[in-house]
Amino acid sequence: MSKHRLALFASGTGSNVAQIVTYFQNHTSIEVGLIVASKSTAGVLNIAQAQGIDSIVLQRTEFYENESILLDLKERHINFIVLAGFLWLVPGYLVKAYKNRMVNIHPALLPKFGGKGMYGMHVHRAVIAAGETESGPTVHLVNEVYDDGAILFQERCPVLPDDQPEDLARRVLALEHRHFAPTIERYLLSLGQS
Ligand code: GRF
Repeated sequence: MSKHRLALFASGTGSNVAQIVTYFQNHTSIEVGLIVASKSTAGVLNIAQAQGIDSIVLQRTEFYENESILLDLKERHINFIVLAGFLWLVPGYLVKAYKNRMVNIHPALLPKFGGKGMYGMHVHRAVIAAGETESGPTVHLVNEVYDDGAILFQERCPVLPDDQPEDLARRVLALEHRHFAPTIERYLLSLGQS
């Protein structure tokens, strides 16, 4: 039986990527086959190197103007994409090729606080400024609009009266680390064999 093979796309530190890699080590039906970074300085590349996972650094123009990433993914038998802190809008050809087979994690309770420009600390600042009493991560399917696909999972945590954006970011990230990989696992197992 062939395994589900994941490509993890990231632009930054990759603390979620690290968690996902660990979670699926020695998994019977799911494996991480590739890490894709949007810049050569992304911390996530260190994880790829340390874990002996194949990696690719994207060139922005190429990513939007030709479809060579599709070949890269195909060559490595990747059948599922995980966006874990990936900041570029995914081009339509890639969304189509991985329809219902691409998920993203967002650090707020979508549909609130999503969309263009809503990433990193901007999200947590906006949540606090809006006087929300709850926040938390959302895992959703990816379509061609930022943060817009069907929601697979949400978890809630309080926003405390004295919270700085950094405090809230830490609380939400801890939930991401706990729930992202199991959510991917549940979703993939619900799809059946690849
Ligand atoms: C997370 O907060 C995630 O919700 C967002 O980007 C951040 C990635 O953090 N999409 P890390 O690189 O996994 O530490």
